[in-house]
Amino acid sequence: METILIIDDEAAMCDSLSKLFKAHNYNAIFTSDSFQVEKLLQDNNIFLVITDYKMPGYSGINIIKMVKSKYPELPVIMISGFGSVETIVSAMKYGAQNFYEKPIKFSKLLTEVNQLKTAKEKNTNNLNNSEIVSVNPKMAEMMQIVDRIASTDIPVIVTGESGTGKELVANIIHSQSSRSEKPYIKINCASIPETLLESELFGHEKGAFTDAKEIRKGKFEIAEGGTIFFDEIGEMSINTQAKLLRVIQEKEFEKLGSNNIQKMDVRFIAATNKDLRQLVGEGKFREDLYYRLSVVHLEIPSLNERKEDILPLVNYFINAFNKKYDKSIKSISNETISIFLEHSWPGNIRELKNCMERSIIFCDDSEISPKNLPMQYKKTADFSGSNIKSVYDKVTREVILDALNKANGNKTKAADILNINRRTLYNKMKHLELE
Ligand SMILES: Nc1ncnc2c1ncn2[C@@H]1O[C@H](COP(=O)(O)OP(=O)(O)OP(=O)(O)O)[C@@H](O)[C@H]1O
Ligand SMILES: [Mg+2]
Repeated sequence: METILIIDDEAAMCDSLSKLFKAHNYNAIFTSDSFQVEKLLQDNNIFLVITDYKMPGYSGINIIKMVKSKYPELPVIMISGFGSVETIVSAMKYGAQNFYEKPIKFSKLLTEVNQLKTAKEKNTNNLNNSEIVSVNPKMAEMMQIVDRIASTDIPVIVTGESGTGKELVANIIHSQSSRSEKPYIKINCASIPETLLESELFGHEKGAFTDAKEIRKGKFEIAEGGTIFFDEIGEMSINTQAKLLRVIQEKEFEKLGSNNIQKMDVRFIAATNKDLRQLVGEGKFREDLYYRLSVVHLEIPSLNERKEDILPLVNYFINAFNKKYDKSIKSISNETISIFLEHSWPGNIRELKNCMERSIIFCDDSEISPKNLPMQYKKTADFSGSNIKSVYDKVTREVILDALNKANGNKTKAADILNINRRTLYNKMKHLELE
């Protein structure tokens, strides 16, 4: 159920709006204190904000600014008794979805909210589309496992090179589970500083540490009944790993600074492009946590290992970006296809998707040809009269030498720059006689 946050200094207004929404299958929370908004946004999985214009404390405009800077995708609707043109214009300028004058026609507001809800569902389905395009047998096998385990509570780990679709697979598991109506919380372990990760996950009591001025809900609590997706789990510190293991085993946790044990019901999915077994060997990842998480291990093959997927994906992206950019591109030239088949796609599907998006933007014909491709692919295209394999080798050689140069000859660093693993780099260097 989607949660709407209502902000109005008039408590009666909050109360009646939230009752109306609740009667129409929405969850609603409200506050008359605009200073509470930030915390409410942090502690709840909010789908829509409805805010009054004129209030003590933060004004409606300040609320819009704050919401849009922290949660750019979160829609805000403004309501006000003072519907001057200026108010409306400034609300829209700062990104408000719409403006309703008081007294509010609830049926009209509800129609818009329902539309937002449908749009959101479509978006999560289309954009990070519940659709995996593939004709590769390994992928088919993996999708069968996904179908079988999605409805269970079994933890899942998804591995694969960068851009292979790990997050997409995690999204599908959540959306196919019985938890799909419940929160789906994503945590990128690489982007949250170690010191903040624990309070982010566990929440804290007032005074648990110096900055803990107020009680705060953690992600474990917010995700109740739903799914938590730990992205880049290989980056989690050993210390936090130990705490996470306990949570997964005991299905309970304590807020920082509290002795109160809370039961929880959450499904865990984790992803990484690191080799966790190797990290276990190096003592950087706990073996017991690895076994706990890898009850189901989904390994997504790189695009290089399933070149038969390139063409179906190309067609899929042509279709999607035609819609997005209002184009009517029909196909891709044979010459472009051969460039694509020769390319090694270190950034996998994401790279192909970006390449297609840019090409489609620059294509004014009905067919994508090499001249529409971004620079790095054109390099190959310019020589396309000659033997494509030798051209490809030439370009790869340049790219590798460039990376080695940037990395001062350090191969591990160069592999990082190229976004490939070290072994792949060694093999390529050997093949190109660069050693
Ligand atoms: N088989 C597929 N069919 C259609 N789209 C795909 C497929 N695989 C990946 N994508 C798209 O490619 C992009 C990259 O996928 P995603 O973000 O899931 O990769 P990732 O493995 O999580 O990458 P990273 O390791 O960089 O986090 C997304 O836009 C996703 O929707
Ligand atoms: Mg990802």
